[in-house]
This record gives sequence, structure tokens and C-alpha cells, in this order.
Amino acid sequence: MTLTLSVNGKAHRVDADPETPLLYVLRDDLQLNGAKYGCGIGQCGSCTVLVDGAAVLSCVTPILLLEGRKVTTVEGLGSLDNPGPMQRAFIEEQAAQCGYCIPGMMMRAQALLQADPGAGEAAIRAELEPHLCRCGTHMRIVKAVMRAGEWMRQNAQSGGATG
Ligand code: FES
Ligand code: FES
Repeated sequence: MTLTLSVNGKAHRVDADPETPLLYVLRDDLQLNGAKYGCGIGQCGSCTVLVDGAAVLSCVTPILLLEGRKVTTVEGLGSLDNPGPMQRAFIEEQAAQCGYCIPGMMMRAQALLQADPGAGEAAIRAELEPHLCRCGTHMRIVKAVMRAGEWMRQNAQSGGATG
């Protein structure tokens, strides 16, 4: 079956079984490898992307649910030359060790800050709690998200984008 998926602002025609998890289509068909396969059963967070602005576990989300909805992956938050605030904050805080969990962490944090730009440390910790990081970089991850929040608030005040 052919479906049209909107990913990072671009429409993609995808020929796949409608039950296929979004994660497989992102990685195997669209070559968007930011979202990671960790557990495959909705328990680690490494595959998290945004669907219409909400954090979603792409390993357990069949593509049949996604026609007409907007998917955003970590690649949609910026580019190598022009990283977005969330990406810049993770780089500045050196928040990754192996990096495997980081795209999922960034996407859930992005959803949180878009919904609640004033989210503080407690809210960030609570939101990211279901995400596993085998390297134990949680402290730096929380610092990075707080820094991203500051920059997004500054951008919003000066009339810039929050993404
Ligand atoms: S790979 Fe999706 S939650 Fe672990
Ligand atoms: S940085 Fe390695 S799993 Fe989080």
C-alpha cells in the first residue's frame, strides 16, 4: 500500500505495509537515521519523534495512523551548518557519550518546551524519566535541555523561531 507521510516538512510517498512501525520507514526507506532502535517495544525512548508536536515512540507507531499528520525527527530540528537551539545546547553541554539515546531525549524535550516554554528542571526531569541512557549522562542532558529552554525563550522574546 502507498501512503504519503509528511516528515520534516517534506511529503514522502511510501510503499509499505500500513502496520509497519514508523521507525522502520524513517530509517529504511527515508534514510533518516536519527531516531534509534533501542528496545522495539516502547520501553526505552530512543526512537522518539514528534507527531503534530507531541512526542511519540516511533517503534510502536504504525504508519497507517500518520497520513495527514506532521512527523518531525531530530534531523528536522536543524542542520550540521545551522543547528537548532536543542541541538546546539546538547553540543555545548557535551551531553552525549555514545549518543544513542540523545535523539529521543532531544525530541521529547523539544515537545515539552514547545508545549511549556517555561518548563523548569523538575518538569524536565519528570518528562525525560522514561528515557533510558545506558551511559549515565542524565545530569548533562538535563542541563542541556535547560539551556535550550533559555535560548528558545530568548528567541521568542526577540521574535525569532523557537524550533
Ligand atoms: S526503540 Fe522505541 S521505545 Fe525503545
Ligand atoms: S549517551 Fe549513551 S545511551 Fe545515552
